[in-house]
Amino acid sequence: MSPEAGTRRIALAVTGASGALYAMRTLSALLEHGQQVDLVITEYGRRLLIDELGPEARVDRLQAYIENTWGEGVRRGDWQLHSNKDLGARIASGSRGADAMVIVPCSMKTMAAIAHGLSRSLVERAADVMLKEHRPLIIVPRETPMSLPQLRNMVSCAEAGAIMVPAMPGFYQRPQTIGDLADFMAGRILSLLRIEHELYPAWDPQAGRA
Ligand SMILES: Cc1cc2nc3c(=O)[nH]c(=O)nc-3n(C[C@H](O)[C@H](O)[C@H](O)COP(=O)(O)O)c2cc1C
Repeated sequence: MSPEAGTRRIALAVTGASGALYAMRTLSALLEHGQQVDLVITEYGRRLLIDELGPEARVDRLQAYIENTWGEGVRRGDWQLHSNKDLGARIASGSRGADAMVIVPCSMKTMAAIAHGLSRSLVERAADVMLKEHRPLIIVPRETPMSLPQLRNMVSCAEAGAIMVPAMPGFYQRPQTIGDLADFMAGRILSLLRIEHELYPAWDPQAGRA
């Protein structure tokens, strides 16, 4: 993946772990930066969008939701929704797949499947493609506390090449709102994708705070 700015194809998977706001902030930030997003939302991911963000975040209303929440800048990018059952989607293919993939939030179930290379659904297959093609796969797991099998699966994903970004926002930037926490997580993800952003202030060691 080239570090230069420009349009890239980013696969974004949303699974049924808590943290739907992180997913929507990541989607909107990618679009604000002109990215082409291949979006896959699992069955429980769809449920979490509604449970945590309300009925206005239903999948068929997502464009309106992100525009109303983060503004018309999201129109700079483009997104396409794929069924998690569609193993024929472009991102399931090694030769035509995405340039990078983000799974935010990532359930322990999906992380276990990736750790063991199961490839049963589009999310699992697209993640497997990223690993086998040595392209960036960013996994944002969310669970607490974590069992030993879950911790081992996290290590297996990291050993296979995934970048593990637990949903653990920092507080040194003195967040005032839940939106600030979501900005922080989305910002960390964009930084790892080498997309320059201003989602949170840079750490200033002189001032002792961001
Ligand atoms: C309200 C709710 C919250 C959940 N939160 C989490 C969570 O934070 N982490 C997790 O690993 N699973 C969580 N689960 C369980 C997953 O949704 C469940 O394991 C599901 O099968 C995951 O499937 P998926 O990865 O295909 O989305 C939650 C389920 C519900 C209904």
